[in-house]
Parts: sequence; structure tokens; C-alpha cells
Amino acid sequence: MPRSLLYERLAERLRRQIRGGTLRAGERLPSLRRLHRDQRVSLATVLEAYLQLEREGLVEARPRSGYYVRAPAASAPRALTARHATRSPQPVRNPALLGVLDVLGRRDMIPLHAATPAPELLPTAALAAATARALRRDPGAALGYAVPQGLPALRARIALRYARCGLDIDPDEIVVTAGAMEAISLALRASTRPGDVVLLETPTYYGLLQAVAAQGLRVIEVPNHATTGIDARRVAELLQRHPVRAAVLVPNFNNPLGSLTREADKQALVAACAAHGVVIIEDDLYGELAYSGQRPSPLRRYDRDDAVVTCGSYSKMLAPGMRIGWMLGGRRTAQLLRAKCFTTVATATLPQLAIVDYLSRHDLDRALRRLQRALADNAQRYRQALHEHWPAGTRVSSPAGGMALWVELPERIEGQALFEAALAHGIGTLPGHLFSSRGDYRHHLRLSCGLPWDARVETALRTLGTLAERLAADRAR
Ligand SMILES: Cc1ncc(COP(=O)(O)O)c(C=O)c1O
Repeated sequence: MPRSLLYERLAERLRRQIRGGTLRAGERLPSLRRLHRDQRVSLATVLEAYLQLEREGLVEARPRSGYYVRAPAASAPRALTARHATRSPQPVRNPALLGVLDVLGRRDMIPLHAATPAPELLPTAALAAATARALRRDPGAALGYAVPQGLPALRARIALRYARCGLDIDPDEIVVTAGAMEAISLALRASTRPGDVVLLETPTYYGLLQAVAAQGLRVIEVPNHATTGIDARRVAELLQRHPVRAAVLVPNFNNPLGSLTREADKQALVAACAAHGVVIIEDDLYGELAYSGQRPSPLRRYDRDDAVVTCGSYSKMLAPGMRIGWMLGGRRTAQLLRAKCFTTVATATLPQLAIVDYLSRHDLDRALRRLQRALADNAQRYRQALHEHWPAGTRVSSPAGGMALWVELPERIEGQALFEAALAHGIGTLPGHLFSSRGDYRHHLRLSCGLPWDARVETALRTLGTLAERLAADRAR
């Protein structure tokens, strides 16, 4: 068969796999050599097929890594670039940030609003056994105060995990906290004073906005793009124009967009912040949840000047309710530890012991692989359902990790109206304006895809689509 036909046939097979969802957005295609071997065609033919798919916008080449399936460009939500360019630093002004507490406290709805994996995707039974063992082994120690910095055995485990992505972390610079949120709040408190300017990406996690508001800080926002994350050049421009003291950034699979900042941008933005004396508080909560299984680097990897405080937690990997997180304090460790002592004294002992016990008996990688695959599958199915059942013009992010889906609705549908209609039907979602310091994203919604696909989820997503159609029709009347 002529080569032109061979490569077209191969391209068509891959095209079908991408469109049918067998190969998902963000997933790596087989290497050239593997396809060459498996399909018994020449390397040139495989390359030709990949180049063809690249021209069609279906795949992208990543340097020294291979070819990856691209998110469908037409359906990616748009960033709010134009309006943000001229804004000056302002305090957080978004009353919705208080209202969200009511929704988060509810247990009577299908939780498409909660960015946590369903319990069945987490090693819940193994953690329950580990907790019971830790308590039995030494009840006095398990129920007593832990050392303020956190159990040495746990800090050693956390450091070991970073070693796998090439980071040499001294356990003595780790401070264990009550989830990543405590770490972020303490790092903010230690590096700013009320009225200071902090840089956040937009959209961003409402918890970060609440932390910034609680400390009376002013905000400047850098747009986050659905596919490429934070643009380091924009960060550098903003740092030139505004007296920024700290930046709170989520470069790996941020919530709500799920975007992944490019490695070159990570490197450049760390350098820009270091040059301006800006402390970066990195929220790396989702770094371990890459659908490809390849953990992207934390910003800390590019930190030559001790500019970055990386924060993480086991909330999305093991158990959100254990409230175990940490920060890598670098030269600020003593200061951060003092801040920790003066607020919560120490992190709860029993969950620290339980996690050490769990990690000493179980393969975390295995648990994570299962979780990553499940989330990738959920994201694909949820997106497909939105595509099928939601009004034309709906755009949805195509994350390559984490569990957030960011939905941009057609202009005539308000996110808040859809959120309220969904609540009335027992379905939890979050309106988009929660993810902005000033109530932007009025036509957006954030969904979590932490619940495995089943009839209940499918019905909920269909119902949401019907409600959105109804709202659009009401507006048209
Ligand atoms: C981006 C981000 N940061 C922090 C948190 C809170 O993390 P933790 O439970 O470790 O405090 C969340 C929870 O959804 C989140 O999405």
C-alpha cells in the first residue's frame, strides 16, 4: 500500500479514538517507536500521521515528551483578559464568599459542588485500619499533643515524595499543618501586612480569596488560561506596575479551571517574582493527580532564591477529613513554625500517626494511579454529557488532572440562576462568580467530577442541562 494511504489510515484510527474518547484530552499518544513496532509501519509513516493530527489541532507535540491529545479548542472557556488588564489592586469584594458556607455544609444533595474524590475512590478502609492501629499501639501518644512542627516520621515521608520529582527537601524545613489551607493562611500572614497587594490568578479557588479577604489584603489578578495556565509575561508586567508583596498561585491543575501552567512559564514566573522580592505561596494540592500519571513540577523546582513556599496536603489523595497538610518553609521555616505554634499549637496527632502507618504498609502510587484513572474517566464522561445535554454554546474545560470542570454558559444564562435551580432539584454546583475577587464569571459554573459515573450522576447532569435550557428559554421570552 502506498505510504500516503498507510499514514492516512493510521491517522483515521487515532482520530476515531480521540473523538470517541478512548484517547482523552491530555493523554499521551503511544511513542513513535511503539506504533512503528505494533502497527508494522515505518517510523516515517507514524510521524506523518501524527503531523497530520497536529495540523488538525487534535494533538500537540511536547518537547522531549511525545504527542498528547489536545482539548477541543472551540469548547475551552475563555479567559477574562481584556477587562483585567486595566484594573488596580482592590480588596476582595464578593459577598458570595460568605454564602458558600451554607452550601458546603449541606449533605442532602448530589455533591457535584464538592472538589473531593468520592470515598470509594480513596483507600478509606485501609486508612480506617491504620487509624485504629495507631490508636491501639499507644493511646497516650495518639491522644497527646504532637510536636508543633509535625511528627518526624511524617515529615520524612513528605520529603521522600518530593525526592521522586527531583526535589531535595530537608524534613526539617517541613511544617505539618491542618490541611493546605492552614499552610497558605500562615504563609500569607507571615509574608504580608493588611493592605498589602497580593497577586492571584483568575479564576481561582474561593478558599484562597477568603484567606486573602480575612487578612485585609488587596488583590491584583492575572488571567489563567484553560489550556496553558498562567502566562509568566503577564505576571512580569503586573509586577512592574504594582507593589506586589506575595503571590498565591496554583500552577498544577488549578481549581476551578484544571489548567496546567507550562514548565517554561513556571520557571519564568519564579524568576520574575524573585527579582521583585515577591514571596510565592504555591498551592500544589493537585500536582499528584495528573491523569497521565506524570507529576508536573512544583514551582519549588525552579526556585534558586528561596522565593517559594510550597503548600500541599493529603486531602485530595487520601482523606480530606484528616486535615493533614504541610508547607516547605525554606529559610522562612522558623517564622512559619512560630506562626503555627501561636495559632493551633500543633496539628492533630492521631491522623498524622495514621497516615505514617498507612504509608508504611501500602503503595501510595498504586492508590494514586487508581484515583488518577478514575478521575480522568469521570472528566471525560462528564464533559461528554455536557456536550450532549447542555445548551449549544456551552464551553467546558478539559483538565489534564484534578477534579474541577469549569463551565462557561451561553451569555443568556446566569450561573447563579442555574446554581439555585439545581439546588431546588437536590443537585450541588457552585456559581462561577465565587471564583473571582470581584464577582466576575457571572455565566460560569464549577462542577466537580469526583463522583464516579453512574445513573445518578448521569441523571443529574441531564437535569442540569434541562434547567439551563429552561433558563435560556425564559430569558428569550
Ligand atoms: C486549590 C485548593 N487549595 C486548597 C484547598 C483546601 O485544601 P485542604 O483540604 O488541604 O485544606 C482546596 C480544596 O478544594 C483547593 O481546591
